[in-house]
Amino acid sequence: MLTRRGFAARLTLGAAAIRMSSEMAYAQRAAAHQAEQMSSDMVWLNSNENPAGPPAVSLDAMRDALPVSGRYHYSEFNQIHKVIAGSEELAPNQIVTGAGSSEVLHTAVESFTSPTRPLISVTPAYEGPIELARALGHPVVLTKLRDDYTADVKLLAEAAVKAGGGMIYLCNPNNPTSAVVKSEEVDWLVANLPANTMLLVDEAYIHFVESPDVQSAIPYVRQGKDVIVARTFSKIYGMAGLRVGFAAAKPSIIAKLAPLQMNVVSIVSARGVVAALKDRDSILRERKAGYAKTRRELCTWLRERNVKYIEPNANFLMIDTGRNAREFISAMPKLGVAPGRPFPPLDQMLRVTIGTDAEMAKFRDVFWKVYKG
Ligand SMILES: Cc1ncc(COP(=O)(O)O)c(C=O)c1O
Repeated sequence: MLTRRGFAARLTLGAAAIRMSSEMAYAQRAAAHQAEQMSSDMVWLNSNENPAGPPAVSLDAMRDALPVSGRYHYSEFNQIHKVIAGSEELAPNQIVTGAGSSEVLHTAVESFTSPTRPLISVTPAYEGPIELARALGHPVVLTKLRDDYTADVKLLAEAAVKAGGGMIYLCNPNNPTSAVVKSEEVDWLVANLPANTMLLVDEAYIHFVESPDVQSAIPYVRQGKDVIVARTFSKIYGMAGLRVGFAAAKPSIIAKLAPLQMNVVSIVSARGVVAALKDRDSILRERKAGYAKTRRELCTWLRERNVKYIEPNANFLMIDTGRNAREFISAMPKLGVAPGRPFPPLDQMLRVTIGTDAEMAKFRDVFWKVYKG
């Protein structure tokens, strides 16, 4: 339910002001000034999208759904939620779905931050929840990354103690660094969660992780901890334009998030997701292996040229350009490749999304031309 204060905030700020932006919106905002340089054969490596798109089984299911999409199909959603929850060994009352994970992140920020409960995260982290908290007039506390670019869970906990509680937003793997926090550290954070504090773990990129030291935080949900896990079908499943995500949490938390949900997702998208989940293991295995190979090749190529980068764990990678990266980032689109936007305070870094092998070949070519000047 919308609280009176929340309702007043909505009236004051207006709906547009409190909508959370997406990765694509941030990319477009950064690129707006260079629109005239955009060619139709531009290689887009700026929004961490998956060039493979939806799995074939999802395309078939969505084609079948289109002719019957004249109806609302609300009665199907109990079963759809059961399938999505079941894919993570959860009950339907332990999840809430949304238009991408953006929507469920939004409801978490609205529910668990306030003018006296900050959002606590690292810098840089994914901007969405941070910008939303600021737009709502809720304080934001950002802690420094460690020298290896990983989040320091002790600093996050200390910040929550200092604030008298709040919501810790931990993106694992982190966007934009592609760095991970090991499960033993997340264990510590959950065991030492300060009073009045919620932990929101954004696992948009968890499926790309190869390290055995990093596991999903969903088991904490099953254990009834104060943990919300956000997941999306936009990344490894290649369904960014279909807009499906979900949050997993214990039923009492879901009961707070669910009333803020805008609506059910489109039946076409939902049927596509259900079809993908039937083949989940093989889809994830195959896509993860393909990404790991392309990512490894790029890392090898960078190492051979003594170019530094942050060890990647997702479908993107941060490269040290050895100079302020802003000019580098605006030079590349002129040569046909659009990399990620700047991510202060990592001013030397350029984020590149892993694309197809052909796209990465073009990336290497253009990157090297700009790098060599
Ligand atoms: C870390 C992270 N969380 C959430 C999102 C939101 O994505 P979506 O709303 O498509 O699930 C993104 C988008 O790129 C992201 O990088």
